[in-house]
Amino acid sequence: MENGRIPRHVGIIMDGNGRWATARGKERSYGHRFGSENVSRIVEHAFNSGVYALTLYAFSSENWARPQKEVDELMKLLKTYIRKFAKKFQKSGVRLCVAGDKQGLSDELIQEINKVEEQTSSHGEHVLNIALNYGGRQEIVYAVNKLLEQGKNVTVDGILSNLYTANCGEPDLIVRTGGELRLSNFLLYQGAYSELYFTDVLWPDFDENEFDKALEEFGKRKRRFGKVQ
Ligand code: FPP
Repeated sequence: MENGRIPRHVGIIMDGNGRWATARGKERSYGHRFGSENVSRIVEHAFNSGVYALTLYAFSSENWARPQKEVDELMKLLKTYIRKFAKKFQKSGVRLCVAGDKQGLSDELIQEINKVEEQTSSHGEHVLNIALNYGGRQEIVYAVNKLLEQGKNVTVDGILSNLYTANCGEPDLIVRTGGELRLSNFLLYQGAYSELYFTDVLWPDFDENEFDKALEEFGKRKRRFGKVQ
C-alpha cells in the first residue's frame, strides 16, 4: 500500500481559507485565492516527496449552501486552476481526475474537466484527484448503484472499485488543516483504515515544511488494519 514510510495516497481537507482571510481583514475569497496558490505548491512538493496520489477536497456537495458570491468565486478559481493544471500536466506523467458529481457544475467547467481528464488519462506517474461537488455518502450510493446497474452483487471490493478514487486505491493518510477534528463527509468508505493527521495550521499557511511534518508523523504510525502485530 504505502511505499516505505511515504504514504502512497494522501487525502487532504484544505480547511481554513476563510479564517486566514478574516484574520487579515479581507473577504473570504481572498483566502481562497491564496489557498489555490498553495494547492500548486503542495501538489508539486508531495509528488517530489514520493507520494503517488493526492485527493484534494476542493468543494463538497454541501458547500453549495455558502453565499452565492463565495460559490461563484470558488467555481471561478477551480476553472482557472484546472486549466493551469491541464497545461502543466500536458507533458508530465500526472493524471488529473475530478472526484465527484459533475452534474450540477456549469457546462463550461464540465468541458474543462472532460478535456483535462481525457488529455491525461494515459499518464501513469502520479494521480491528482480534485474532489469537486463531492460527498462521501453520495459516493457510496453512486458506487452501489453502478454495481446494481451492471447486475453485480454488492461486495466490499465491488464498492471500492466503483468509487471515484478507484484510480489510485485507498488513502494511506488523510490530513485536515484548520483545526477541526472531523472528516466532513470526505473519503468515508476508502478511508476506513487511513491514518488521520490534524493540524491547527490554516490551509494557506500549510507549506512544504508542514506537509513534511505530516509525513514524519505518518512514518511513526503502526498500521495494523485490524490485525494483531
Ligand atoms: C475550506 O476553507 C476550504 C474550501 C471549502 C475550499 C477549498 C478550496 C481551495 C483550497 C481552492 C481551490 C482548490 C483548487 C484545487 C484549486 P473554509 O472556507 O471553510 O475556511 P474557514 O473554515 O476558515 O471558514
